[in-house]
Amino acid sequence: MRHIMDALDLSPEELDDLICLAKRIIDNPEKYSECCKGKKLATCFYEPSTRTRLSFEAAMLNLGGSVLGFSSADSSSAAKGESVSDTIRVISSYADICAMRHPKEGAPLVASMHSRIPVINAGDGGHNHPTQTLTDLLTINILKGRFDNLKIGFCGDLKFGRTVHSLINAMVRYENVEFVLISPPELRIPDYLRKGTLDANNIKYTEVSDLDSVIGDMDLLYMTRVQRERFFNEEDYIRLKDSFILDAAKMALAREDMLVLHPLPRVNEISTEVDEDPRAVYFKQAQYGVYIRMALIMTLLGIKVD
Ligand code: CP
Repeated sequence: MRHIMDALDLSPEELDDLICLAKRIIDNPEKYSECCKGKKLATCFYEPSTRTRLSFEAAMLNLGGSVLGFSSADSSSAAKGESVSDTIRVISSYADICAMRHPKEGAPLVASMHSRIPVINAGDGGHNHPTQTLTDLLTINILKGRFDNLKIGFCGDLKFGRTVHSLINAMVRYENVEFVLISPPELRIPDYLRKGTLDANNIKYTEVSDLDSVIGDMDLLYMTRVQRERFFNEEDYIRLKDSFILDAAKMALAREDMLVLHPLPRVNEISTEVDEDPRAVYFKQAQYGVYIRMALIMTLLGIKVD
C-alpha cells in the first residue's frame, strides 16, 4: 500500500508512467470506464475546494467506481472534536482509497500513518498540493512537449502558495530549468525553499517585484492568487491582493508561445479579457486534473488495463 503526500514521492520514472497513463486515458476514455467497478473513493475535505474534490470524484466515477465523503470540517465529526487519525481508521473500512484536504500542514501524513487504505494529500495548509502539481506537469508535458529547458515565471503569492512550492520542487529535477519569482517582497518564497531546494541544487532564479520587465522572456507564466485564508490580518491582505493583474496589455509583451497557467480559483489576478487568448490554458489545465487523478487512483489501487 502506498500513500502520496508530496509529488516527490513519485520518482521521475514513476511520474513518466503516470503521465503516459493519463494520456492513454485521454485518447481512449471508454477503455477505462469500468476498471474501478466496485471500488470506493472517500473525499475527506476539511477545507473548501471546487476543482480538487470534484475532479477526484469525477475521476473515480469515470473509472466506474463510487464516491463518498464530506466537503467541510463542519459537516463531519471533526466539529465534535474527532481526530484525523480516528477518522481515517473508520474511513478505512468504508472506502478503498482516500483523498484528504486539511488546513493543517501534515494532517494527511498523520492520517496515512493510521490508515489501512492509500491516502492522497489533496492540499495541506500552505505546505503541499501534489495532485495539483501532477495536473500542472501533465499540462506542461502535453502543451509544451517537454520538462527540460524551460524558463518558468511564478507570479503572486509565492509565500503561501502551496502549488508553487510543490511545482518548484518537482521541476528542479529536470535539466536547465530556470525560475523567475515575481512577488511583493512580503510574499516571496519561504527560506526553506530558496535555500533547501534552489540554492542546494544550483538552480538559476531571480526574484523581482515587477511583472512587465520580465514577462517578455518566459516559456510559462504560473499565476497565483493571494491566499486570503492564510493571512494573519485583513489589512495586509487588502494591501497586497491586487499586486499583479495580468491583462491584455501585459500579454502583448509576452512571447507568442508563452503559456499562462493558474491552479485556480482566480480572483482578480488574471483579467477575464485574457481568457480568450490561446496562450491562456488554465481551464484546460483544470480539465487535465481529472485525467491525472484517474491515472493516480488506478496506480495506487494497482489496477492495470493496458
Ligand atoms: N486548484 C485547486 O486546488 O482548486 P480548489 O481549491 O478549488 O480545489
